[in-house]
Amino acid sequence: MFSKETYIARRRVLAKEVGKGILLFPGNGESSVNYRDNWYPFRQDSSFLYYTGINNVPELFFVIDIDNNTEILFGDNATPEDIVWTGPIPPLNELAERSGITCLKPLRELQDYLLKHRESGNSLHFLPPYRSAVSILLEKLLEIPVARLEEYSSEQFIKAVVKQRSVKTEEELEEIRKAVNTTVAMHTHAIRNARAGKSEKQIAGELQGIAIGGGGNISFPVILTRDGGYLHNHASDTVLQQGDLVLCDCGAETAMNYAGDMTRTFPAGKTYTTQQKEVYNIVLDAHNSAVEELRPGVLFKDIHLLACNRLTQGLKDLGLMKGNTEEAVAAGAHALFFQCGLGHMMGMDVHDMENLGEAYVGYTDTLQKSTQFGLKSLRLGKALEPGFVITVEPGIYFNPFLIDSWKVEKKFTEFINYDRVNRFRNFGGIRIEEDFVITSSGKTLLGEPLAKTTAEIEALIAR
Ligand code: GLY
Ligand code: MN
Repeated sequence: MFSKETYIARRRVLAKEVGKGILLFPGNGESSVNYRDNWYPFRQDSSFLYYTGINNVPELFFVIDIDNNTEILFGDNATPEDIVWTGPIPPLNELAERSGITCLKPLRELQDYLLKHRESGNSLHFLPPYRSAVSILLEKLLEIPVARLEEYSSEQFIKAVVKQRSVKTEEELEEIRKAVNTTVAMHTHAIRNARAGKSEKQIAGELQGIAIGGGGNISFPVILTRDGGYLHNHASDTVLQQGDLVLCDCGAETAMNYAGDMTRTFPAGKTYTTQQKEVYNIVLDAHNSAVEELRPGVLFKDIHLLACNRLTQGLKDLGLMKGNTEEAVAAGAHALFFQCGLGHMMGMDVHDMENLGEAYVGYTDTLQKSTQFGLKSLRLGKALEPGFVITVEPGIYFNPFLIDSWKVEKKFTEFINYDRVNRFRNFGGIRIEEDFVITSSGKTLLGEPLAKTTAEIEALIAR
């Protein structure tokens, strides 16, 4: 937890930005796996955590009454009987004190409190819920049907939270660097140990162990696969074979829930084949070209399109695409090979604030998200600002189902050499991903550098 001054200052900025009314933050509860008392690892709601710093205690609500300049933590202390099972849990007054919250009330008083304020005409702001248990609680507390909660959630509140959480402070960057360094350790282990004969899941388990050993957990389920042609193909029982190309996309989050997210693609044997190197170097060129352009004021959408142009040029050199590069990208033909976006915001969520809506996090009133295949999966399009933390993750993915369906439809035959593409249908995929903070003059890589060229990766395998 940061010092209480951090949380007090964050809440002051938020209250000023929203201006009036009640801000309601539901904390997360435990979530059952297969029976009530067997839980998934507890994960606090990121906005609750950002404004209170209180983690690892389920079923809390936090309220800011802007007009009356009051903050209240609603919750119940663990009973001695609870503690029989869990061990000591810090009392709520201690947690509230560490967060600079002066008023504590039992949970049973929350509903009356909220209804009373609503009756007196105060606007009640809440963020769109993403967990069904929280939706059901809000339905009961606010007397709004679950199906209408999103519609009643507060755009003003969403915009204020996004504005504040998008710009990372130095103490946040310190946490993110910690997360990225654990992520680098995971990748170093994967590159050195994901050899033929081991199953994808065996290695993924080892990586999860490194993340947990780093003090937090994984920031999303490990993607480690010889079938990297599918964007988010999680580790399976498949055993790696000589000649396979392994795509590993994984990240750690710290105990304070700040995330890392990186991807490397490496051979299950000791070296890349010539063909693997050729495709790898196209992705690396797109990655480096995109990184070069990171600076405040530049639309991330334009950097995405630049990366698409570089990928298309490389695919043309390889004989898989043809025609005018810019026209191919404008038409969306390159999306046969790059079906997603160049990157996303990262922070307390690996896709930061995605629960608040991509339209608010990645776009503006004047820059709306495209509906074109490929571009519609770009989560961040707007202009970069100092303090933004983002990923850069171009890739080339050979998806046999997509290749076959486009070929039957004769889609973009002026830009795609389907016969030649067909020779790569079982190639898999390559992605290279790193995390950056935008600075006043450009960008800085987060975390320790990790082997990135084919020569550096082969050297790391050989060590
Ligand atoms: N690394 C997973 C993702 O960015 O979606
Ligand atoms: Mn990512």
